[in-house]
Amino acid sequence: MNDQALFQRLLSLVTEYRAQEKEGTFLDYLEPEQLARLLELERPARGDWERILRWLEQYLEHSVKTAHPGFLNRMWSGANLPSILAEMVTAVSNTSACTYEGAPVSTLMEHYMLDTMLELVGFEKGEGQMTTGSSNGNMIAMLAARNEVLADTKHRGLWQQAPLFAFVSADAHYSLDKAANILGIGTDQLIKVPVDERGRMDPGALEQLIEECIERGGRPFFVCATLGTTVRGAYDPLPPLLELRRRYRFWLHGDGAWGGAALLDDNLREGFLEGVEQLDSFTWDFHKMPGTNLMCNMLLFNGREDAFRCTCSAGEHSYLFREEKETHELDLGVGSLQCGRRVDSLKWFLDWKYFGKEGLGERVHRYLELAAHAEARINGHPELEMVAPRESFNVCFRYLPPGNLDPDEFNLKLRHHLFHQGISLVGVAFIGERVTLRLLITHPDFTEAQVDDFLDSLVQAARELLEEEG
Ligand SMILES: Cc1ncc(COP(=O)(O)O)c(C=O)c1O
Repeated sequence: MNDQALFQRLLSLVTEYRAQEKEGTFLDYLEPEQLARLLELERPARGDWERILRWLEQYLEHSVKTAHPGFLNRMWSGANLPSILAEMVTAVSNTSACTYEGAPVSTLMEHYMLDTMLELVGFEKGEGQMTTGSSNGNMIAMLAARNEVLADTKHRGLWQQAPLFAFVSADAHYSLDKAANILGIGTDQLIKVPVDERGRMDPGALEQLIEECIERGGRPFFVCATLGTTVRGAYDPLPPLLELRRRYRFWLHGDGAWGGAALLDDNLREGFLEGVEQLDSFTWDFHKMPGTNLMCNMLLFNGREDAFRCTCSAGEHSYLFREEKETHELDLGVGSLQCGRRVDSLKWFLDWKYFGKEGLGERVHRYLELAAHAEARINGHPELEMVAPRESFNVCFRYLPPGNLDPDEFNLKLRHHLFHQGISLVGVAFIGERVTLRLLITHPDFTEAQVDDFLDSLVQAARELLEEEG
């Protein structure tokens, strides 16, 4: 089969998939053994285009349809069409975004988008980098802070240094624990600051913990404010944390992986992100609420212009990066922890151009309205309860089973049932000791009626389960 015929076959598979991705169930669930048998994973296919196309077809047939209204589990849904087109072109042209020489268009687009985002956040004389996601963004921020507070760590390591302490809220993302492990800080030195009743870091408790750390001879060097926690959607309060930074001189990082999207709407920014322009660093995923294809992340540094290179570059790399090249200054790979870098800029650039800040801002604003609608419906329904009042975009709720049935156990069962029936895939987590379902709305065209349908189908499924259980 020639290229043209192959691409035609592929395009018809993809367009057919797109036309139906919101129909039927979001997944026809198969047990892993059944699916493995069906996929014939062991089957040889040397030179066999028909089998290759069949595997592509099977991939689409048996994957979770993330654009389906029943997919409410994660922090994204489907993907924006401009970024899908970009991903296809990126795959065809297949290069690494480490030098201008090897990736001229991508390099300029990445610089353009980073500058645009620095301006949007309000970082002056800053710099940025696309990383593989906010887990990585959080880690690189912690790394930069570590190397700034102990300037020779990069070369000498952490031997014979006063122990470094980092602070995050008790509800922060687990990537911070991983970062503390990877960077030699140690997870015991990652202090979890208690949160208030709304799930926000308690600045008074932070100050006390910092004082205790200093008394024990430790060095508080890094505080991460979560700007939209993973489960509750709480925003740690920046003004008091900025005041503490003035007194204790730590690096203040903002993890806006999820909630950073509030920057796209001026009113939301004012409400959720006051003071964000004064952070030392900020990470934000464009692949979450803004809807760009996975992965699409930016990590921004404030008031620093060479920190990425100072922090991340090491070793002899002149085969790739050489200062005498005119375009050396543009090479984004020098300040990256990776060598090969995926081209993530094209999809970001095209989404930004196509929707603009206004379009994406309206989208994020709408998600908040829909979350408020869901909360109101839940509060007005006798069989549902909010597990915690809504802080922003996250709706943490659950079904209230009758009698003395354990609500934790029942909601886990209910979620499993909804998934296996292909009705919906909704998140599940704990708030304190209590199991909560976590509804995140990230479908750009979702409506109040669809929120209602989701809740009605959940209640219906719960009643059926109760009946089954007698
Ligand atoms: C608050 C927060 N930080 C960081 C991350 C990690 O982001 P990524 O998946 O891009 O690594 C997440 C992911 O859900 C998150 O919710």
